Amino acid sequence: MAFLRPCLLSFIIINAFVIRTCFASSCQDLLKSISPASNEQWIDSDSSECTKTKCRLDYVDCLGANGWPAPYGDRQGAPKTEEMVLVFSDEFSSKWRDFGPGKDARWQALDLMYVNNDAAIFRRSAVSVRGGNAVITASKTETEGPYSAPWGDQLATAKYTSGMLQGWNKFCFTGGYLEARIKLPGDDQHGGFWPAVFTLGNLGRAGYMRSTEGVWPFSYDICDDNALHKQDWTDHNGQRINQCNSTQGRGAPEIDLLEVGVWESSKPELSTSFQVAPVLPPGLHWLDNTGGVYYPTYADPTLYSGPNGWAGINSYMQNATMFRPRPGSRLADAMSATHKLNASHFTDFYVYGLDWAPKKYIRWYINDRLIYELNALALKGGTNSANQTVGDRLIPVDPQYININLAMSNSFAPIHPDIPLPSSMLIDYVRVYQARNEINVGCDTAEFPSQVGFFTPGWL
Ligand SMILES: *[C@@H]1O[C@H](CO)[C@@H](O)[C@H](O)[C@H]1NC(C)=O
Ligand SMILES: *[C@@H]1O[C@H](CO)[C@@H](O)[C@H](O)[C@H]1NC(C)=O
Ligand SMILES: *[C@@H]1O[C@H](CO)[C@@H](O)[C@H](O)[C@H]1NC(C)=O
Ligand SMILES: *[C@@H]1O[C@H](CO)[C@@H](O)[C@H](O)[C@H]1NC(C)=O
Repeated sequence: MAFLRPCLLSFIIINAFVIRTCFASSCQDLLKSISPASNEQWIDSDSSECTKTKCRLDYVDCLGANGWPAPYGDRQGAPKTEEMVLVFSDEFSSKWRDFGPGKDARWQALDLMYVNNDAAIFRRSAVSVRGGNAVITASKTETEGPYSAPWGDQLATAKYTSGMLQGWNKFCFTGGYLEARIKLPGDDQHGGFWPAVFTLGNLGRAGYMRSTEGVWPFSYDICDDNALHKQDWTDHNGQRINQCNSTQGRGAPEIDLLEVGVWESSKPELSTSFQVAPVLPPGLHWLDNTGGVYYPTYADPTLYSGPNGWAGINSYMQNATMFRPRPGSRLADAMSATHKLNASHFTDFYVYGLDWAPKKYIRWYINDRLIYELNALALKGGTNSANQTVGDRLIPVDPQYININLAMSNSFAPIHPDIPLPSSMLIDYVRVYQARNEINVGCDTAEFPSQVGFFTPGWL
């Protein structure tokens, strides 16, 4: 049985009549009772944790006694916790999985050179399910694979082989809490692995450059020059589906739940980011919007968190002494935070989570502890002294799918000569919970259609 069973099927044979019965898990029953129209088959029948209680919306503290410091002190009032229900899960308990094209309901393991000049090509053979975990293994195996360039398909070779699980056009969700229990590959001393878990709007298929042109990572619903044309400070040629020529500006913004690098200077660091376009004009910085970002563990030496200091191409001198690094590129603002990790994250499992409320906020967690909030205030547009202007970007509204990969690259934390190989990233589970009155799953919804071919060339 190669296909992931949507529920436990058993065949009872009585006098040549075959009766197929389906034993739904309790989590499936719960979802069905709350939302009869929803598809409970995204829930793995091995799941038993059917609910998750999170602080949501106008809460004061998931932070214990600390509360919110200035300038967040206006968020007084009782914490608003909310019980969310499981709408998607993969417990990776059954080893009978085939992640080949079209074989698995939830994932495809890609055979692809993801980004040109990556050191590892993703191969399906690098992904397996063993011992209750999905296992993505990077190895020193020279390999050849396709590269989906903007100008056409190419063949690429690389020194290393690794893997990627991609949920494009399979399971999508709009808002909710995504968590993955993961043991990181390698150790806390040697750079070169670039494990990542991220979501992307279903209009763009990650790694397929012709599908992402004009949609990655737009999250914009305003008809203006930024939507229509390339600007002096950008490299994108306008938003393919925008408020000028459609009823709703669309795109494939990216939420990075986890990207880990072991850096020579700072050792292991997790970065959590939201990548969005159109990008702010030079001279404007999303950190300047008071109240838009929050780092609850800023002063905690075991889990230090703070703004990502990586200088992107739109970084600038604010004045003679103050340099404002702005992570990102001429295609994307990466509104990013970094967090200290340690040796334990490479030897033990930790739960990495994000809570996404469309148009409102994204919050990132480690083991249920809030580490970073980014909200709509940080996405405010603005006009610089040269009268270059961008309007408000949106905390994503488009349905998102999930990607999990283990890249190797010198363009992130450089590859150490003694990097331990082979090494595996272990994923114990992936789960998505949504508020009871906000159940919203599906890649191709009435409000946000995205069936293959919709406004886009073929991209398989
Ligand atoms: C909508 O506008 C964008 C940006 O100018 C353009 O790339 C796209 O082709 C337009 N779509 C239609 C259907 O006109
Ligand atoms: C430069 O800008 C920073 C941040 O706004 C400010 O703290 C600093 O005093 C400024 N320096 C000068 C020389 O204006
Ligand atoms: C690593 O940090 C976590 C908190 O994030 C802590 O619980 C753990 O004890 C630390 N491990 C080591 C080896 O310092
Ligand atoms: C700034 O740009 C806007 C729109 O592009 C234009 O309407 C306005 O006249 C410009 N203002 C100045 C002072 O150049």
